[in-house]
Amino acid sequence: MNKPIGVIDSGVGGLTVVHELMRQLPREKLIYLGDTLRCPYGPRTPEEIRKFTWDMVDFLLTKDIKMLVIACNTATAYTLSELQDKLSIPVVGVIQPGARAAIKSTLNDYVGIIGTEGTVRSNAYCDALNMLKPNMHLTSLACPAFVPMVEQGILSGEFALSTVKKELQALKDFAEMDTLILGCTHYPLLKDVIQEVVGPEVTLISSSEETARETSTILEVNQLLNDGLEISRHQFYTTGDEKQFTSLTRKIFNSSIENLKTVSIERVVI
Ligand code: DGL
Repeated sequence: MNKPIGVIDSGVGGLTVVHELMRQLPREKLIYLGDTLRCPYGPRTPEEIRKFTWDMVDFLLTKDIKMLVIACNTATAYTLSELQDKLSIPVVGVIQPGARAAIKSTLNDYVGIIGTEGTVRSNAYCDALNMLKPNMHLTSLACPAFVPMVEQGILSGEFALSTVKKELQALKDFAEMDTLILGCTHYPLLKDVIQEVVGPEVTLISSSEETARETSTILEVNQLLNDGLEISRHQFYTTGDEKQFTSLTRKIFNSSIENLKTVSIERVVI
């Protein structure tokens, strides 16, 4: 079916998932929306996160998407089951896939989770991990400084290193950790710095590969894969500044993206 897949995030973080979707599903057309104007979602109340996510979803529904990927852990934590209940198209989030990938990776069941305040507060990763494999040793840590840094395009260098060191200080006591879930789609953009701080013996998990795999399976099972010959161009939307978005996408994809527009999606200003 030659309809697009909708992908949402609070900002540019979800592009790490887009990157993997493009790799695993090269025949699919993606429509990405980053709510850069209202980013970060992490420190917001559950009600705000729900409302903002619905604003994004309502916008993408006008584009006739055949499936929705919530490429944002914070939005997944607070809206996944509601969206799955209410929408008539398949919806996937990034938390279950991230939890699955971590379980595949850990050898000693000591798994750390870093994410936004909202994601950590929701306990969604611990719940997902415990459901899949009870009695693991888990510790979660919110890293509120990471998302604003990534949105500003600071992905390496002295400032990034010292910020990551400071934020991850509290993980030092969890010395047995062999796997660390990057429970925010912005964090893979800081992967090199995070790896340098936690050391090479810790495996970093980002949900993008597993999420793209799940998306592919769902499309196949529901007979929604693009069966046409034509491969359409992807479309990108931001609620914020186009220039800033473009310069970040250049860093992520190593090339510029075409088809970027600024849109307004707010129904009521909070
Ligand atoms: N990239 C998002 C996540 O995965 C949200 C970051 C934020 O807006 O705080 O949680």
